[in-house]
Amino acid sequence: MYIDEVEKIAIDLAKQIFHAEFVDVRPVSGVNSNLIAYTAFTSPGDIALALSIPNGGHISYGRLELGGTAGAVRGLKIEYFPFDENIMNIDIDATRKKIERLISEGKKPKLAIFGASVFLFPHPVKELEALLHSYGITLMYDGAHVLGLIGGHVFQDPLREGSDVITGSTHKTLPGPQGGIVLSWNKYSELLKRSAFPGNISNHHLHHVAGKAVAFAEFLSFGEDYARAVQENAKTLAEGLASRGMRIFGERVGYTQSHQVLMDVSMYGGGGILEKSLEKANIIVNRNMIPTDIKAGRHFDNPGGLRFGVQEVTRLGMGKNDMDYISELIVSVVTGKKSPEDVSLKVAELRKSYQSIKYAFDTSRTAYEYISLRR
Ligand SMILES: Cc1ncc(COP(=O)(O)O)c(C=O)c1O
Repeated sequence: MYIDEVEKIAIDLAKQIFHAEFVDVRPVSGVNSNLIAYTAFTSPGDIALALSIPNGGHISYGRLELGGTAGAVRGLKIEYFPFDENIMNIDIDATRKKIERLISEGKKPKLAIFGASVFLFPHPVKELEALLHSYGITLMYDGAHVLGLIGGHVFQDPLREGSDVITGSTHKTLPGPQGGIVLSWNKYSELLKRSAFPGNISNHHLHHVAGKAVAFAEFLSFGEDYARAVQENAKTLAEGLASRGMRIFGERVGYTQSHQVLMDVSMYGGGGILEKSLEKANIIVNRNMIPTDIKAGRHFDNPGGLRFGVQEVTRLGMGKNDMDYISELIVSVVTGKKSPEDVSLKVAELRKSYQSIKYAFDTSRTAYEYISLRR
C-alpha cells in the first residue's frame, strides 16, 4: 500500500515535468520501455522504421541478424530511416519518399521509431507526423538519452509534435536511478499498462520507483538550469575539440544541440583503442560507430568514432572553461602528445574542485559518497 502511494507520487511528478497524460514508472530500463511500446503497438512480422546503428540507432531497434531487440525479440522487420550525414539527422524528403515506396510495395510500416543513441539534433517528428499518421503509422519516440533535455525544455517536445508514445531511461540526461519510463496519452493507457504487466514486467523494482520520485522532484526544481548548462557545455566541448584540429560531426549545423559530441578518430587508431587510453587518463568516453564505418570495413570493437557525453561533469558543476580545458586534455591523449598517465594527474587535479553535486537538493554528502552500511 505504501509503495502504491510512492508510485503515485512518482507518476504525478513525471506528469508535471513532461506534461504527459499517461505515465508508467514501472519499466526497469530503456530497453524494457521500448519492448513495452513494441508489444503495445506492433505484432511479430510487422515493419518498423528506425535509424541504423552506424547512423546512431540503438541495438534495441536492431534487425534479427544483429540480435537486436526489435528483430530478435519482437520479430519486427526493420527498415532504416534515410540519414543525412551533413546535418546528422533523418533525411526528411528521402524518408517521405521511402514511406510512399514501402506503401506502394505493400510493405506499410506499423511503427516509426524516432530517437537514437547518437542523438545530436532534434528529430523531425513534427515534419513527418502528418504523413505517418495519415497511413495509420504509430509514432514512438525513444528519449532514453535526451529525456532530461526534453523535460528541461531545451531540445524538442515530442508529445506536442505528434508522438504517440515516449520511452526512456531515467539515468542519462534525466539524472535518476537506473530505470525506464513510458509517457503517452490517456487513449493508450490501457494498452500500455497491459503491455507493461503482464507483458514485459512481473515484479517491478520498487526501490527504483522511490528513487525516480526523488529524481523527478529534484528535476522540477533544477532541471531547466541543468539542461541549459548541459547543452552549453556540449557545444563548448565540441568547439574546443574542433579548434584543436579534431573532426567533429555536425560542423555545418553547430555540432550539437544535445549532451553529446561525436568525433571522428579513424585517423588516430580508432575509437576502441582511444577509449582505453582515455580511460587510463581518467576520462571516460564511449567508442562509437560513425556513418562511414560499414563502408570502411570497421566494426564495433574498434569503430571510427568517440562519443562524449557531458551530463555527468555538468552535474558536478563544471562549466565552459572546464569544457575547453577537457578538450585540450582529450586532444593531447588522442594525438599522442601526452601520455595518459600524465593527463590522469591533471584530470584528478581538475576534479578536486568539484566534490559535490550541483542541481540537487542540499546535502552534506559529497558526490559519489555512499552511506556506509557497516561500521
Ligand atoms: C537510444 C537508446 N534507447 C535505449 C537504450 C537502453 O537504455 P537502458 O540502458 O536503460 O536499457 C539506450 C542505451 O544507451 C539508448 O541509447
